[in-house]
Amino acid sequence: VGREGKSEKAELAEEEKPKPKRRIAIFFGTQTGTAERFSNDLAKEMRQRYGDVSAVEVIDIDDYGADEEELESKLSDEGLCFFLMATYGDGEPTDNAARFHKWMTEKCSSLSDDDDDDGDGGGGRGSRLLSKMNFAVFGLGNKQYEHFNAVGKVIDKCLEKLGASRMVPIGLGDDDVIIEDDFAAWISGVWPVMDKLLGIGDVDGGGGGGGGGHGEVSVAQYRVVLHEKTMNVGGLPGGGKEEERISSGGDEERQRSQQQISRVRSLKTAATATGPGHEGYAYDANRPFKATVVARRELHSPLSERSCVHVEFDLTGSGMEYEPGDHLGVFPENQPHVVEAAAKRLGYALDTVISLHRDTEDGQHQGPDFDSLPPPPFSGPCTLRVALACFSDLLNAPRKTALLAMAAYAESADDEARLRFLASPEGKDEYASWVVGDKRSLLQVLEAFPSVKPPLGVFFGSMAPTLQPRYYSISSSPHHDPGRVHVTCAVVEETTRSGRVHQGVASLWLAGAVPSSKEDTVKGGGGDATARSSMPVFVRSSGFRLPVDMSLPIVMVGPGTGLAPFRGFLQEREYLLRSKLREAEGNTLLGKAVFFFGCRSRSKDYIYKEEVEAFLKSGALSSLHLAFSRDQDVKEYVQHKMSENAAELWELLAPKDRGGLGGHLYVCGDAKAMAKDVHRALLTIVQEREVVSASEADLLVKRMQQEGRYQRDVW
Ligand code: 2AM
Repeated sequence: VGREGKSEKAELAEEEKPKPKRRIAIFFGTQTGTAERFSNDLAKEMRQRYGDVSAVEVIDIDDYGADEEELESKLSDEGLCFFLMATYGDGEPTDNAARFHKWMTEKCSSLSDDDDDDGDGGGGRGSRLLSKMNFAVFGLGNKQYEHFNAVGKVIDKCLEKLGASRMVPIGLGDDDVIIEDDFAAWISGVWPVMDKLLGIGDVDGGGGGGGGGHGEVSVAQYRVVLHEKTMNVGGLPGGGKEEERISSGGDEERQRSQQQISRVRSLKTAATATGPGHEGYAYDANRPFKATVVARRELHSPLSERSCVHVEFDLTGSGMEYEPGDHLGVFPENQPHVVEAAAKRLGYALDTVISLHRDTEDGQHQGPDFDSLPPPPFSGPCTLRVALACFSDLLNAPRKTALLAMAAYAESADDEARLRFLASPEGKDEYASWVVGDKRSLLQVLEAFPSVKPPLGVFFGSMAPTLQPRYYSISSSPHHDPGRVHVTCAVVEETTRSGRVHQGVASLWLAGAVPSSKEDTVKGGGGDATARSSMPVFVRSSGFRLPVDMSLPIVMVGPGTGLAPFRGFLQEREYLLRSKLREAEGNTLLGKAVFFFGCRSRSKDYIYKEEVEAFLKSGALSSLHLAFSRDQDVKEYVQHKMSENAAELWELLAPKDRGGLGGHLYVCGDAKAMAKDVHRALLTIVQEREVVSASEADLLVKRMQQEGRYQRDVW
């Protein structure tokens, strides 16, 4: 597969003597790959503009500095840095930026104390730590969430506090609208400053068209090698049914290639891993465990128009451990009909065996054309079926870069013009409506432009992002059901404005999973292998934890699938109630547990109803408050129930020094509306019960958060 579209670089009329190249470091904190992709795009354009005077490096912030000391010393030597940092969930950093974020915030807060001591107006040593550095931060977040771009903002502030010079104001990317536009706008402000810093005039003869590297730059693409179909895919012994070999090959391939995907990392596990079956081997996002589905059931009643499934995975033999409150990452697969449609659209048979490469045939690294490409999502040869099913995000809306790539390969001038318009600043509204508003998938857009004939290398390099793992709050306790992990998943299905039925990749997979009986799995090899469903999974630990001191009361607020982690909490409490150990230890009392649950209707979507009632009976749960929003004319939500029970609630939660029991509050579920409203209700309760001002109530709630007594698992 050939390449094309060489970019032009303006020649700099420089004197003979070579100047040392300035280092430019681009750090990314990414969860789904967007910040990483933006970093690569930025690097590509930087190299085009400043390649002669600078050396640009894109760095996963997790790979930077082996320990805190090294991180600090390396960072203090940096001169020119960009930080592309995503914010997740409840204002948290991405997994790969957690360590850096922690270091940064701690460094900064310790600094204020030093400076106070110095009393010299902020001139302490720490505040000059990064004095060599010029920096710029772009945050990736979503305005619908309460802590919009919290991580980017904190990093931006801290860098300044540590003595670095801000080149441009922080860019606040909003994924609720079109984050690529925010990025492009931010970048356009970066160039003039960089030109000045690097002592360069107008480098790129009117460049920047689309901004952010999205203009007339070459289309990023992998070099594709087509392999003989008879070859052994994924390193499995030959023979067997073709289908079987291919699908198993996919698993192996995924195991191997996940090792290359650096965007999701688990810090604590990597060091001890030696291999499956070895002591200390830990499965993580880079090496997920192929877990068999051993149970699945619908949780909504037949009266409900929606679906929510309970799924149990077998973890036997994996050595995987988790605690109630942790998350399960799952790698879903696209549905066969989606995969078939994509292969058809690309014009290749599903059993075509391909591999993707970022270098030329002679193994030389390529330069500009490969610069913005991450390592391929799969390393060795694999069938197109597996590549599309396991590694390609086909159902999300195409990004503007994807539209430009399509335009570059459109045979019809009309198609090309329309695609370029959609990706252009003038076509912003049309993109927002026709692509994003109508929820047109990548596949759907490709189908809408039949004259576009993308080579496979372009499809994987510039159009289809890598399919990301999905995370679910684990809904079980390992003590209650050893060797298994449960998840509770609302099935995503909606008809879009364009008439397509949009189905969530992971939830649909879970809903359609075929459970095997446990016996089948344990014996291994027995039964019908193809009838069992298995999925690569891994545990992501969270800070959402029961109190260490179980005699403290807990208050749980979790409408809808927000119930999930609380089922785990309550199972754990049930186990503790029964545990002989507790008796031996003098039967320490379990604190009270209060649960606020809400759903639409008692008869339709009250999930785990029998179990919740049993918890109440056994004493694992002390009291239950239910809000059925649609069972009466006026909406009833969990926060209304909280307000009705304000006195009891605050008695449990108020700090001990204010006469309360110092309990823990947990909120799980929707972040966009529910968690915000619950937070507001809490503030009002505090204000009224304590008879304090709004700002004092705010401080009391902040203190609860700092003490780990108010935790949220929201999405
Ligand atoms: P609704 O869909 O009838 O508005 C679980 O999804 C439950 O949360 C549903 O009963 C839903 O009600 C409710 N819900 C919707 N918005 C909410 C909000 N802002 N705060 C609390 N609960 C909410």
